[in-house]
Amino acid sequence: MRSGEPGGVAHLYVHLPFCAARCGYCAFVVEVGRDDARDAYLDAVLAELERERGRLGALETLYLGGGTPTLMGAGRLSALLAAISPLLAPGAEVTIEANPETVDQNLMAALAGAGVNRVSLGVQSTHPHLLGVLDRQAGPDDAARAVRAVRAAGIPRLSVDLLLGVPGQSQADLAADLAWVTEVGPDHVSWYELEFKEGSAIASGPHLPPDEDMSADLYEEAVEGLEAAGYRWYELANFCRPGAECRHSLAYWRARDYVGLGVGAVSTVGGGRWRNAPGLDRYVAALGRGDAPPRTQEPLDADTRRRERWMLGTRVDEPLDMAWAGSPDRPAALDVLEAGGLLERGRGTVRLTRRGRLLQNAVMQEIMDF
Ligand SMILES: C[S@@+](CC[C@H](N)C(=O)[O-])C[C@H]1O[C@@H](n2cnc3c(N)ncnc32)[C@H](O)[C@@H]1O
Ligand code: SF4
Repeated sequence: MRSGEPGGVAHLYVHLPFCAARCGYCAFVVEVGRDDARDAYLDAVLAELERERGRLGALETLYLGGGTPTLMGAGRLSALLAAISPLLAPGAEVTIEANPETVDQNLMAALAGAGVNRVSLGVQSTHPHLLGVLDRQAGPDDAARAVRAVRAAGIPRLSVDLLLGVPGQSQADLAADLAWVTEVGPDHVSWYELEFKEGSAIASGPHLPPDEDMSADLYEEAVEGLEAAGYRWYELANFCRPGAECRHSLAYWRARDYVGLGVGAVSTVGGGRWRNAPGLDRYVAALGRGDAPPRTQEPLDADTRRRERWMLGTRVDEPLDMAWAGSPDRPAALDVLEAGGLLERGRGTVRLTRRGRLLQNAVMQEIMDF
């Protein structure tokens, strides 16, 4: 067994894959129409937790992601949280992802009682025509209702996910999303650029991705608008009120160890990485037999880790310690990028400037061989 960080792994992800339908842009590991398997899945996840318990230390963060975790229902989620709760450090961040149409006050109250202190709400857009392009189940009213339910239940942290670069999205649409965020006032916003992922329905047409200039303009508008509203742009796609960073995501960007439970979940511990296979039935069957879930071991040599540390570490607005991250492939590029105002250097550290972060991908292509 790989030992990982001293004291054990402090970050746990649980993948809950059930969805009512697959959104056209989504390429995540999801299971549609398998609600009958939720009890068996819960048992399997609890069995995997038992198998992995020895790697875990006091958990600083727990993240229930999906899929649509809220489709598991209050009883199963409470049972899952009851099993994990004894492992949580005092003050741990406990997040659940939620689709707006699945949120009601009873569910939120049950989750609050079971220890959830952060809800990440998948709003994606406030416009019916764009929600239609994305094949979302929820309308704008569901998002507003869900926000009220989270707050009424006393869950202290609320994050909303939005998308930019949705086919047909105008600057006026984005401005209206911004106005909605400002009015609702979540303490965290993730505003992702829509990726046309291979194998997703949207990638095979008829919608085309917006051109790069349009996407860049929308991105800049989102960054500037959220900053004007008092959010800190602390990661390329993430914004928060002071002190409300997502601690779980920060652990990924800081290349900390984490354990993932459930179908498709990835774990990175002690220089090793493995990925549970997709496929609910095989997962449930293996754990039911007392075996490990089907998994693939992924190569994670020193060189891969060095590249990852650069790629992830330059996403956040904190200096990257080069002694920790390792050397860049083209150190001379740092001088050129610094002179061009794209990065700044401290004593043994590098940090992208605002302009550098807007162009992070291109900047990294200059520094590293990918
Ligand atoms: C996998 S979803 C799970 C949460 C929940 N089911 C939902 O849809 O809101 C987590 C987030 O990933 C983002 N996401 C999913 N597919 C994406 C894509 N193709 N491009 C960019 N972001 C994507 C969405 O913003 C979504 O809120
Ligand atoms: S985007 Fe969310 S709701 Fe839609 S299929 Fe993917 S995981 Fe399910």
